[in-house]
Amino acid sequence: MSQPNKDANIGEKYPKLIDSFGRKITYLRLSVTDRCNLRCFYCMPQADFNWMPYENILRFEEIIQLVRVLACQGVRKIRLTGGEPLVRKDVVRLMGDISNLEGVEELCLTTNGVALAELAEGLFAIGLRHINISLDTLRRERFQEITGRDLFDRVWSGIQRCIELGFSPIKINFVMIKGKNDDEIADFALLAARYPIEVRFIEFMPIGRGSNWGRDYFFSSDQAIELIEKRAGKLVVEQRRPFSGPAELYSLKGGKGTVGFISPLSHRFCSECNRLRITADGRLRLCLFSDREILLRQMLRDGIGQKDLAQFLAKAVMKKPARYLAKDYDVPHCDRTMSSIGG
Ligand code: 5AD
Ligand code: SF4
Repeated sequence: MSQPNKDANIGEKYPKLIDSFGRKITYLRLSVTDRCNLRCFYCMPQADFNWMPYENILRFEEIIQLVRVLACQGVRKIRLTGGEPLVRKDVVRLMGDISNLEGVEELCLTTNGVALAELAEGLFAIGLRHINISLDTLRRERFQEITGRDLFDRVWSGIQRCIELGFSPIKINFVMIKGKNDDEIADFALLAARYPIEVRFIEFMPIGRGSNWGRDYFFSSDQAIELIEKRAGKLVVEQRRPFSGPAELYSLKGGKGTVGFISPLSHRFCSECNRLRITADGRLRLCLFSDREILLRQMLRDGIGQKDLAQFLAKAVMKKPARYLAKDYDVPHCDRTMSSIGG
């Protein structure tokens, strides 16, 4: 990956990505597939899948072309998401190619961990260090209930493998769902005391038409903090780190890792939003909760030049909304499923 200073003059050529509220866009969440080897009940429909047709999914050359231009325009951090990014064939090679692009300083991956025991070594070899693994329970039967697959052991050995190899930071994403896994919140906090990882508690968000979200499922970060302090001791506020994103960080006394809280619903962080999303079929999303998408795929296939693409992207970014728009009772919503956006 390129060093920050080496590329002082890249981007001179192309307009920087700054939205109409002065937010600099430096972070891209790139979904490389909508397929997944799990079926988490909150993420995708349980039947009647409407997968993206393969021919609509961006090819590697198209992805590289797009990311190359974005990196010239100020994007420094790229996170691969899915569906499950590791089910896409040859994704490790793609990640290696992305990390070699000028301007890319931070490469990250969000994965469900199923394929990690196998792929972690290859990912480490291409230079990946930042890895987020989704895990909502430590109980095998419950894992199967939530994800539809009996693969807890595979995920757990993948996490162990990443710790052994020395990935850092390793973040565990835990979506808090009242009545499903809130009784494990303290156990997960204790994991962060035992291992050098960051456990991130994420508020369950209403994403996807017909998603299984409901107010009754909602468990807030404040409730989680109270619960953890009761069981595991006082949480000490940690300094925000460059890679902590919107998470509020804490540690437990004497613990090896940290715990983070991501509270899009109870404490929104739109004013600091520096991100863009691209779906696997090449649509630019300016806000997780806005279904207004800008189609890039056809442009790439029609052979748009780099400069025109850069100009188009700079203009598109101006349409990024100030904050998410919440319709009913201040709860935001979007139609696309999480599996087709990538979180
Ligand atoms: N609310 C909060 N987090 C979610 N994720 C998936 N769906 C939701 C939702 N409705 C999480 C996944 C993954 C990350 C990309 O987002 O568990 O860790
Ligand atoms: Fe797959 Fe992640 Fe969705 Fe679960 S949450 S079904 S692991 S994409």
